[in-house]
Amino acid sequence: MTVLPTALDTAGPDYAAHREAMLARLAELETEHAKALAGGGAKYTERHRGRGKLLARERVELLLDPDAPFLELSPLAAWGSDYPVGASIVTGIGVVEGVECLITANDPTVRGGASNPWTLRKALRANEIAYANRLPCVALVESGGADLPSQKEIFIPGGALFRDITRLSAAGVPTVAVVFGNSTAGGAYVPGMSDHTVMIEERSKVFLGGPPLVRMATGEESDDESLGGAGMHARVSGLADHYAVDEADAIRQARRIVARLNHRKAHPDPAPAAPPAYDPEELLGIVPGDLKEPFDPREVIARIVDGSDFDEFKPLYGPSLTTGWASLHGYPVGILANARGVLFSAESQKAAQFIQLANQRDIPLLFLHNTTGYMVGKEYEQGGIIKHGAMMINAVSNSKVPHLSVLMGASYGAGHYGMCGRAFDPRFLFAWPSAKSAVMGPQQLAGVLSIVARASAAAKGQPYDDEGDAALRAMVERQIESESLPMFLSGRLYDDGVIDPRDTRTVLGLCLSAIHTAPVEGARGGFGVFRM
Ligand code: COA
Repeated sequence: MTVLPTALDTAGPDYAAHREAMLARLAELETEHAKALAGGGAKYTERHRGRGKLLARERVELLLDPDAPFLELSPLAAWGSDYPVGASIVTGIGVVEGVECLITANDPTVRGGASNPWTLRKALRANEIAYANRLPCVALVESGGADLPSQKEIFIPGGALFRDITRLSAAGVPTVAVVFGNSTAGGAYVPGMSDHTVMIEERSKVFLGGPPLVRMATGEESDDESLGGAGMHARVSGLADHYAVDEADAIRQARRIVARLNHRKAHPDPAPAAPPAYDPEELLGIVPGDLKEPFDPREVIARIVDGSDFDEFKPLYGPSLTTGWASLHGYPVGILANARGVLFSAESQKAAQFIQLANQRDIPLLFLHNTTGYMVGKEYEQGGIIKHGAMMINAVSNSKVPHLSVLMGASYGAGHYGMCGRAFDPRFLFAWPSAKSAVMGPQQLAGVLSIVARASAAAKGQPYDDEGDAALRAMVERQIESESLPMFLSGRLYDDGVIDPRDTRTVLGLCLSAIHTAPVEGARGGFGVFRM
């Protein structure tokens, strides 16, 4: 064993200050998470309960095995938009009858569970996760369909939801729909396209058009039950495979369906692993409030990997990027962690080599972000920083082992790409409340804009307004700062959630377990041409 030492002074002032800053951010995060939990608010929650119905998260909880964890994804979706935080749908990974499943549940307390543009993005992301990791999908449906005022944003891209259900099925990933209430129009295709359906007596309403629409279209008089009730679908249309008498019965039947799926994981579960040698609580005191101050990512690694056991690769070469091998909850991982912010040529080449090694050995990769990007300046340009950065990005792009990304601190510029940012399809990407991500830092960006504006004025022979410039810089800085923050980015579905640093090991362990449902195989060759 190569147990990492620690230099973290948990009694010192730096630790206390970092911890305080992190706790303050966690408190803010808690407030936002509470909004997602509150769904459509007290009025709609009470009305829903008054109808004898369970809330979305209660349905999920009943579906899961007793005491099984639920890794909720993107709870802050729609944050900072005109739509309620959470995007009127709950998504996540949980264990049903011993099978890890991707679960989605419409929140009918938010505008009748209608899908707005953020609901759509969140649901599509859930499908992507199910597909990549071969997780059976269980949809707990109760939705007013498309959010009609925003139909232009969702109607055309929304077809992907139908497409995904059948592609999952074609790939051998089971799909189950349990209909708790309304599932009309487009929503009717969710049960329509799923492998297995459960409907509930006097509750499920599944039709292409409800009674008013039918009257408008054909003049026919009808009622909910004969058009799309559970009894009709179970006895007449054949759309309901299972007929349930109430919500609890429907969930019980959904559990029985999953129990009979014969869905097997590609890799057996590893033996229980040793916890880290250091207290994960200490993860609160590592990242400085000011990201300009560097921190040693080994302190983080020591608190998330099994036994704090880490075998570093090339520690003396390209020291701004720490690379090495460990295991996490028994799963082998290769870790790439930014150590001093900037990526130079040596770090980039080391990363490309390390990524190839992980692919040869079928080892998933974990990227721990704290980078301001690739180094700029004459010396570095002449030293080939572009081609070396390109080499790293080539390796990340074409690597086939599963990638996990955690934004601990800064994640700026092409460094975000090289470290497997969102566009590079990491299987999962989480941010700590301390993270910031943007094309560059707010001050730098404001400064660049100011230099460009000054040069433009000079080229036109116009005087430059220095006072206006200061105000513009301050405004741009504030805007970029707010757009770099994790809640903003999470709201836009640029991550799978903002997590408490103390939960990192648990979250990554759940992800690794889900990932190993599908075969883990690296790329043997198949990289783009490496410019040497
Ligand atoms: N788009 C936008 N808003 C919607 C909506 C939709 N598809 N469905 C419901 N809402 C809104 C309602 O206007 C209402 O807003 P308000 O509280 O500000 O008045 C709120 O969501 C709750 O709806 P309400 O009808 O009071 O809830 P309910 O639980 O009694 O009924 C539905 C829910 C879904 C059965 C009913 O709202 C409905 O039939 N909606 C239209 C369904 C439809 O035809 N969709 C087309 C899909 S392509």
